Amino acid sequence: MKAFHSFSDLGITGEKSADVLQAEADAVFRFGVDGHSVLDIGAWDGFFTFEAEARGAAQATASDWFCWGGPGWGTREVFDHVRAARGSSARAIEADIPDLNRADHGLYDTVLLLGVLYHVRDMVTTLDRAQDLCHNQLVIETATHPGSEPVAYYHPRDSLDGDGTNFWTPTVACIQAMMSEWGWQHFEVVETPHAVLSRHIVHCFRTGLPENVPPVGVWRG
Ligand SMILES: C[S@@+](CC[C@H](N)C(=O)[O-])C[C@H]1O[C@@H](n2cnc3c(N)ncnc32)[C@H](O)[C@@H]1O
Repeated sequence: MKAFHSFSDLGITGEKSADVLQAEADAVFRFGVDGHSVLDIGAWDGFFTFEAEARGAAQATASDWFCWGGPGWGTREVFDHVRAARGSSARAIEADIPDLNRADHGLYDTVLLLGVLYHVRDMVTTLDRAQDLCHNQLVIETATHPGSEPVAYYHPRDSLDGDGTNFWTPTVACIQAMMSEWGWQHFEVVETPHAVLSRHIVHCFRTGLPENVPPVGVWRG
């Protein structure tokens, strides 16, 4: 079974190793999801969906389209296999991101948008859909452009990492500026662990940063 995510307990080795995924999960979930409803947009094999469950989420939902039923690089086979093998109660929504909406798909305490933003032609709509479904904690992981201006760099054809499905790299300031359009004011930013290219994890909160956050090398915006 060809996989993107590794699941060592099930003998599945994917493109992303277990060590890399674990380090990324520690950064993504550093504010916790205990008791949360969690939506993982662009979940693919669902590592972060199942990890949210393992870290105490009350309900985890995976959402994808490009790799599940669309023209993307994979299938839903690994997600379904892991879900069954682990006896997970994760739900699945098969939908293109612009079609996600509160009325049909609900409102979640935490929304994950990991490794997705630079793969979409329309970043603003993607962020808008993600924030609309999110009550308070939106976690964005993305390739980024260096610099402090609120700008995004467009990568023609396959000029970013040889991948023709990479379109935009926003600066972190650009992500914050776009999020502030919908009233999100509180951000915490870390570099994505193990990343070769410039990549960041941006935690966005509507109502203020949680207190008693474990210290890591971060800056607050
Ligand atoms: C690089 S993978 C990231 C997978 C996982 N979130 C991670 O961080 O390891 C990008 C994911 O975004 C999904 N995706 C890209 N465009 C999409 C769209 N328009 N609608 C839904 N999912 C999309 C792909 O199918 C794929 O699962």
